[in-house]
Amino acid sequence: MLYSINDVKNLFLEFFVQNQHKQIKNSSIVPENDESLLFINAGMTPIKKVFTGEQIPESNRMCNIQTCIRTNDIDSIGDMHHLSSFCMLGSWSIGDYFKEGAINFAYDFLINKLKLPKEKIYVTIFSGDSERKLPADTESEELWQKAGMPKNHILLRPFSDNFWRMGDGESPCGPCTEVFFDTENKSIKSYEESGFFDDKQRYIEIWNAGVFMQYLQHEDGSYTRLKTNSVDTGAGIERMTMVLNGLKNVYETQAYASIIQLLKNNSTSNKENSYRIISDHIRTSVYIINAGVEASNLKRGYVLRRLLRRAMRHLRAIGVEDEFLKTVVESTIDNLNECGLNPNWLFSKQQIVQKVLIEQEKFSKLLVSGLKTFNEFIASEQNIENGKLNSKLVFKLYDTFGFPFEITKELAEENNLSVDEAEFNVLLENHKELSKGKTGKVYKSGLADTSEQSVKLHTATHLLHYALKKVLGNHINQKGSNITSDRLRFDFNFERKMTEEEVRQVEELVNQVIEKEIPVVKEEMNLEDAKNSGAIGLFDNRYGDKVTVYTIGTYSKELCAGPHVNNTKELVKFKITKEESSSAGVRRIRAILQ
Ligand code: SER
Repeated sequence: MLYSINDVKNLFLEFFVQNQHKQIKNSSIVPENDESLLFINAGMTPIKKVFTGEQIPESNRMCNIQTCIRTNDIDSIGDMHHLSSFCMLGSWSIGDYFKEGAINFAYDFLINKLKLPKEKIYVTIFSGDSERKLPADTESEELWQKAGMPKNHILLRPFSDNFWRMGDGESPCGPCTEVFFDTENKSIKSYEESGFFDDKQRYIEIWNAGVFMQYLQHEDGSYTRLKTNSVDTGAGIERMTMVLNGLKNVYETQAYASIIQLLKNNSTSNKENSYRIISDHIRTSVYIINAGVEASNLKRGYVLRRLLRRAMRHLRAIGVEDEFLKTVVESTIDNLNECGLNPNWLFSKQQIVQKVLIEQEKFSKLLVSGLKTFNEFIASEQNIENGKLNSKLVFKLYDTFGFPFEITKELAEENNLSVDEAEFNVLLENHKELSKGKTGKVYKSGLADTSEQSVKLHTATHLLHYALKKVLGNHINQKGSNITSDRLRFDFNFERKMTEEEVRQVEELVNQVIEKEIPVVKEEMNLEDAKNSGAIGLFDNRYGDKVTVYTIGTYSKELCAGPHVNNTKELVKFKITKEESSSAGVRRIRAILQ
């Protein structure tokens, strides 16, 4: 291997330190005094206040390496380059150099310092967004060309890809420029100017080489200029090491290779995907445990529990004994030390192993009986409808056997069955409500409260569902929903990214219904009548004999526990703020009311 992880780390830090960047301390993966975020997910999050001027930076030029946790891509783990934890090489200019400096540094580092072949490098820039009144980043396009990047290796991408912000709320933000590397995966067509750019299996992102922080995004979705322009960059060291060594995936790098080998040597069935999931999940679990988090059913603790339990399930799938988990954890800790990717150890190796074993003790018997129960469930035809496992049984596996949803989902998929996440979430929410002892109305999935704004957003969700079916096809169905008084989040089945035009059409359809001032009508009826009336929704006898159906003119008819507004005019104006991937085959829309 040409480059160790440490080599790459040193090359990066040396380069930026030589260019007058101060190396700053990294932070724990659990954010300090910030409950808005479960885990640090980018190098800039611990220093986010320096971009808005609320905090004075240690220096105007900084760099470091920061462990990050991102579990939103959990379904992609096992592919070439997605990981639930990675170490981010980050560099920042706070009110110092801007686009030209950042692009010149990026070019110099990639081409002159790392000597990556120029013909394999592609860069993306922001194409602009007329509705949000954000101009295209033509300046960066010119600067890349000036630095030496050929025009046909520069791609324009929309807001959803190349405009970076921390979320939907108030956030420093701006257009970004990302660097992709051609893995030359021959099964995927190579990019031709203005054609399709496969950023999943052929061209992989190796560096967000510049988020040009020049705006402040406000809660209402508007943007104002920040007083100072800043640059935020981030690159995953595992991917950088992969491409520098000409490897096919991140698991072949020093960060994982020895653990994959250990699993291979000890397993009785050759399952590469399981090796990858185990090595990824145990590494992330070690990071999370070392940050002081205990496995539980809540927030950070539940992330840890899901990772550990899924890893245990895959260890069983490759046929190793329970005792072997201890060896995997110990080797992972040794490997982190060897690679120089270790956190500041707050616990000893023995203590971390002990914490994993406590969770194993809780789960191993349940895992055996849960797997047996799962097999019994799928052996009976009455539990399966159109290839889908009954959601109550999925919930039973969660509730009685401690199976996180994704374990059952994977098991189902291995048996060519599907599971319904939205239905599972409804059952989970209902269960939480009941265990809180509430006797009042049980709200449909994801309505966090019944504030006026949340109720309006809930009605907007029904209109969005209607508009998506109209624009993308009748096969679109809700897969999940989460509403707070600030915004709605809606998940639905769809295989690809929506085009900007589709997003615009959906927004327009919703606004048309709002403008038509249509009354929202609530009716109680029995389940059969509701079905026959053409209402959509989760038909499940949890609603009892009588169900509630909400109708909005000829546009929407949904089985739903409410609550809703009386007339669509109360929504005033609907705006989609983001369309993104939620998991494989599921897209996510975030929207607000203005
Ligand atoms: N914050 C940016 C990102 O996460 C650059 O690191 O992509």
